[in-house]
Amino acid sequence: MRIVCIGGGPAGLYFALLMKKQHPEHQISVVERNRAYDTFGWGVVFSDATMQAMRAWDPESAAEIEDAFNHWDDIEVWFKGTRQRTSGHGFVGIGRKKLLNILQRRCETLGVELVFETDVASDLDYPDADLVIASDGFNSKIRNRYAEVFQPDLVTRPNRYIWLGTNKLYDAFTFDFRKTDHGWFQAHIYKFDENTSTFIVETTEEAYEKHQLGQMDQQGSIDFCQTLFSEVLDGAELMTNARHLRGSAWLNFNRLICGKWSHFNGKSHVVLMGDAAHTAHFAIGSGTKLAIDDAIELANQFNKHGHTRDQIPAVLETYEEIRRVDVARIQNAARNAMEWFEVVGQRYADTLPPEQFMYSMLTRSQRISHENLRLRDKAWLEGYERWFAAEAGVEPNAKGKVPPPMFTPYTLRGVTLKNRIVMSPMAMYSATDGLIGDFHLVHLGARALGGAGLIFGEMTCVSPDARITPGCLGLWNDEQAAGWKRFVDFTHSNSTAKVGIQLGHAGRKGATKRAWDGMDQPLEDGGWPLISASALPYLKHSQVPKAMDRADMDRVKADFVRATELAASAGADWLELHCAHGYLLSSFLSPLTNHRTDEYGGSHENRARYPLEVFRAIRAVWPEDKPISVRLSCHDWFEGGNTPEDAAIFSRMFKEAGADMIDCSSGQVWKEEKPVYGRLFQTPFSDKIRNEVGIPTMAVGAISEADHANSVIAAGRADLCAVARPHLADPAWVLHEAARIGLTDIAWPKQYYSGKQQYETNLARAVAAK
Ligand SMILES: Cc1cc2nc3c(=O)[nH]c(=O)nc-3n(C[C@H](O)[C@H](O)[C@H](O)COP(=O)(O)OP(=O)(O)OC[C@H]3O[C@@H](n4cnc5c(N)ncnc54)[C@H](O)[C@@H]3O)c2cc1C
Ligand SMILES: Cc1cc2nc3c(=O)[nH]c(=O)nc-3n(C[C@H](O)[C@H](O)[C@H](O)COP(=O)(O)O)c2cc1C
Repeated sequence: MRIVCIGGGPAGLYFALLMKKQHPEHQISVVERNRAYDTFGWGVVFSDATMQAMRAWDPESAAEIEDAFNHWDDIEVWFKGTRQRTSGHGFVGIGRKKLLNILQRRCETLGVELVFETDVASDLDYPDADLVIASDGFNSKIRNRYAEVFQPDLVTRPNRYIWLGTNKLYDAFTFDFRKTDHGWFQAHIYKFDENTSTFIVETTEEAYEKHQLGQMDQQGSIDFCQTLFSEVLDGAELMTNARHLRGSAWLNFNRLICGKWSHFNGKSHVVLMGDAAHTAHFAIGSGTKLAIDDAIELANQFNKHGHTRDQIPAVLETYEEIRRVDVARIQNAARNAMEWFEVVGQRYADTLPPEQFMYSMLTRSQRISHENLRLRDKAWLEGYERWFAAEAGVEPNAKGKVPPPMFTPYTLRGVTLKNRIVMSPMAMYSATDGLIGDFHLVHLGARALGGAGLIFGEMTCVSPDARITPGCLGLWNDEQAAGWKRFVDFTHSNSTAKVGIQLGHAGRKGATKRAWDGMDQPLEDGGWPLISASALPYLKHSQVPKAMDRADMDRVKADFVRATELAASAGADWLELHCAHGYLLSSFLSPLTNHRTDEYGGSHENRARYPLEVFRAIRAVWPEDKPISVRLSCHDWFEGGNTPEDAAIFSRMFKEAGADMIDCSSGQVWKEEKPVYGRLFQTPFSDKIRNEVGIPTMAVGAISEADHANSVIAAGRADLCAVARPHLADPAWVLHEAARIGLTDIAWPKQYYSGKQQYETNLARAVAAK
């Protein structure tokens, strides 16, 4: 075959040498616009997995690369006068120039034709090629020629960065955060050869503008960074090797995804590879790794299908299919890490103490969890756990041990929870006339014995017509309060858990069937008239609610106040106001469901006016020493609906009105929503609200292991974690998770003690057997 690689970066060179090595009869050229052995860039980072693959595919170049590698284990963070270091992170770095030179030499040895100083205008310049590799980097001309086919989707990220170098050698991957009058700057620094370290400086567009960095030439920017980072540079000079870039050389990262990776141009098959096909932010340093992995997979597919022209379409199809998955995974992790650095100034740097700031940074991609950190650096993690426990007022026990973050106590107003796990409210649709019956006593009681610090009952409706279904719990009369009191008394006398009641009004989602008879489906008989912010039915065939007038508002507010007084009389410890999931108060907050033109519709202030009025009214009658949290849908997951930005605005308003905590849920406001589910998928909303608004938060949603909860709490992404479905599967979820992470110093109900010992022993045996 005749193969032409346009662009001699890692992707083009590595693919060329792999193919030539396996089939010397292929005629392969790499055409590069730069001069031979000339390139720009500093060091790049590799992963162990990629290196292992390279060893298998071409031991000769792998050996040379490994010889030139710089390996380091430590991460060091400079922040507010502190220097913190952790180990066990395992990186390898190499100069980009060195890497390319090794690959170029290897190509020459194998007989690949290297053509330099040739700027290729088009793939059609090589009509005799069977296969053209578009390995011409992020600005790929070839990809742009066929933009309609390749469908590049580009997102320009808001931060600015400049890629510099220095001759100071750092023995750890070093991050230095510096505050200026106009915002924070951070440097990402790592050594990559005997003389040089990469030094990338990053900041927000706002700080970049205010410091007028765009108006400076490169030397001006270098001088600025030199002064700002003088402490970590310790007299060393910053250097650029991108003098060819015009202007200030501060760039924006562009995230690239392509809809399709290959095309037949009438003569040759053209395929994208490396940065021409996708990009991953330098925050996790995986661009070169992805380029190499692409090259390996394409060569692998030729081996599988056959090295002949007729197999090219099948080869390209499977190559794309396989690589897409891995690329999406890396891009996801890179996105989280990148976003952390984009918001670090506004969200973390001014709020988190240095210890927690470091933990948050280490777990920024959300691929590294608490237990993962323990594997990397046990001593550091245990030190962090001791710090976290001390902040929560916990002294080490006689053996010097402290509980992990999720098992530290938490106090709001006069209520102290024994740990950070909350059983999230879950409707059971099993009440008659709104009364807590035997089912609830057993269901909630079992969970109260199961270890969570706070047990929420389900959404409890403030009047008969506030119910979602005829099976929902209510709190509008003394009999219902007595039912609650029975459960509260049981819990207080048989466990150390606290009890929360979530008060709500179903609004336009009311008068529906029990979940198992048809979720959200209107009742055929026995329905009641509905009210909402606006007269919009939830489903097309749902009842059309009445848009509330002032008299309705007064009545419902009075219902909430009465329910609050009844909850107080039942002795509940915690109250939550349900302003989420499209129910009545949520219907005011979302522009999708609130079309009002009076003072209760339109602006954020107007949309929040009634929910805040209800909140203030219940706060006034709820005991001063007990907290009230507010549950919000922090994302409507639908165009035109609320976003986390809006949720932060509402959270600030509730905070000012005296709310103690925001319970950060999302969705269920609009039937056509398009949520993006996944592990911890709503935690970013909690993180944003807690650290930008400065109010305690509860995270909820797909938190299903102790490791998740510990990571969230330790990083300060939430103060509490609410766990719902896992509690349906296992009433003693908390006790079982404690055992799973080896925490035996935890109280089980005294009646269950022999079960505890057996459970822990069996788990320990299973771990040992592995
Ligand atoms: C600030 C920063 C830091 C980074 N840090 C890391 C890191 O730590 N680790 C990491 O793995 N990656 C890192 N990267 C990413 C890495 O540089 C790329 O992802 C990687 O080089 C991609 O390889 P490639 O072969 O696809 O493209 P490139 O390396 O961009 O190579 C493309 C080649 O094509 C040539 N070319 C372009 N157009 C033409 C044309 N028309 N004719 C002929 N030749 C052409 C170019 O001159 C270039 O040599 C970083 C990137 C940036 C911007
Ligand atoms: C059966 C069931 C009933 C629920 N009822 C309520 C409710 O009454 N009030 C509420 O705010 N959320 C309710 N939710 C949502 C949960 O509280 C929680 O936010 C959601 O299930 C995500 O958490 P998870 O991933 O731990 O299950 C319910 C969830 C389930 C599964």
